[in-house]
Amino acid sequence: MDRIRIIGGERLKGTIPISGAKNAALPLMIASLLTPDTITLKNVPNLADVGLLIRILRNHGTDTAFDGKRAIANGHQGDTLHLTARDIVDTTAPYDLVRRMRASFWVLGPLLAREHKARVSLPGGCAIGTRPVDLHLAGLQALGAEISLDGGYVVANAPGGLKGGVFSFPKVSVGATHNILMAATLAKGETVLENAACEPEVADVASCLNKMGAKIEGAGTPTITIQGVNELEGATHTVLPDRIETGTYAMAVAATGGEVYLDGARADLLPAALDVLREAGVDITETNRGLHVARNGAALKPVNVTTAPYPGFPTDLQAQLMALMCRAGGVSQIREAIFENRFMHVQELARLGADISVSGDMAKVRGVPSLRGAEVMATDLRASVSLVIAGLVAEGETVVNRVYHLDRGFERLEEKLGSCGARIERLHS
Ligand code: UD1
Repeated sequence: MDRIRIIGGERLKGTIPISGAKNAALPLMIASLLTPDTITLKNVPNLADVGLLIRILRNHGTDTAFDGKRAIANGHQGDTLHLTARDIVDTTAPYDLVRRMRASFWVLGPLLAREHKARVSLPGGCAIGTRPVDLHLAGLQALGAEISLDGGYVVANAPGGLKGGVFSFPKVSVGATHNILMAATLAKGETVLENAACEPEVADVASCLNKMGAKIEGAGTPTITIQGVNELEGATHTVLPDRIETGTYAMAVAATGGEVYLDGARADLLPAALDVLREAGVDITETNRGLHVARNGAALKPVNVTTAPYPGFPTDLQAQLMALMCRAGGVSQIREAIFENRFMHVQELARLGADISVSGDMAKVRGVPSLRGAEVMATDLRASVSLVIAGLVAEGETVVNRVYHLDRGFERLEEKLGSCGARIERLHS
């Protein structure tokens, strides 16, 4: 298993290109199941999760092809991906594929909408608390699906096709919003989703679906209205920039000091995170092509933050913020309100000398004068990158194990940080 080795203490200076958003690319790829025509996605990040989803979609009969100039060993060539699901050859998404990535469960809605039946394994993915699928199932039932559980599989049928309905999410869920939104595009009549996720990735997927001929209004707000259509067609769509990658590199610069231009980043995608960074004393300037992030000399101020659905502070930046606040001058309070058990990075940060105490969903981070390099273990995708940020400011050598978590969500991380002066390298096993 690959590891990442960092020698901390270098300020970051340079330009980092921001990739397409993983959390938009995955549902956009899944949306290709809704049409026999070709969906062309541009700005698709080169990530392990994208490769895994390609395998899952191929299993359903989707042809996939890349074009572009980025040729590398694992088959992801360029950032333009063509997906054509001319015929769905298999409506089963097997355990062995779905268990590795939770988002693959979202094939359920599109398969059910197009083929009127689907059999999808219960999902896996990051081990961050119990992540049930009850909202996905309740939403699809509101569209007339008959659902049962059989041997670890969700078996769904919609004889005669899905029918529009009203569904009010009892709790905001990004994945369930994607799943039901995609299903509703081919349902008969009108569907109204209330208390839907407002994440920019939902609006991005809806915009692609509308190019495909769907009739969706209100995506990006809590109420989405969908008029079902008989069929969808091909479209070309550019994946929006990754706001979590943007926030992660902004926090890395805030931690090390220095100044970095995040090329292609969009400030409007992460308002709460940028507010928190400004409150902590980080300079952030928007340009028409990206974000300039700098911290020169000024000490970091502690912050109080609670994670929340968009437009609140994203849970996917909580671990990174915690690593940053380890070096603030005072005590920060960080409350995780989306997922249980999403503090697994705390014990690893402690190995680097962090002073963090956790009580329930609240972490108190006492800033320390310095961190010291150590060997640490990545536990999930966002936790692993928080260890990289901590390693960049720690004295001496930090080795992050289980880097495959990072490869699920961060494209060319060591190259991007290395080009800004970080001493970081991948150790191949
Ligand atoms: C997505 C993101 C993930 C992010 C999360 C929250 C992708 C690929 N993943 O994950 O990076 O951390 O949103 O912003 O976009 N829940 C239920 N029942 C359900 C579904 C969810 O109770 O049927 C709960 C979850 O346990 C969690 C909360 O709802 O407490 C939010 O989860 P959800 O928004 O669904 O997360 P994901 O879509 O899995």
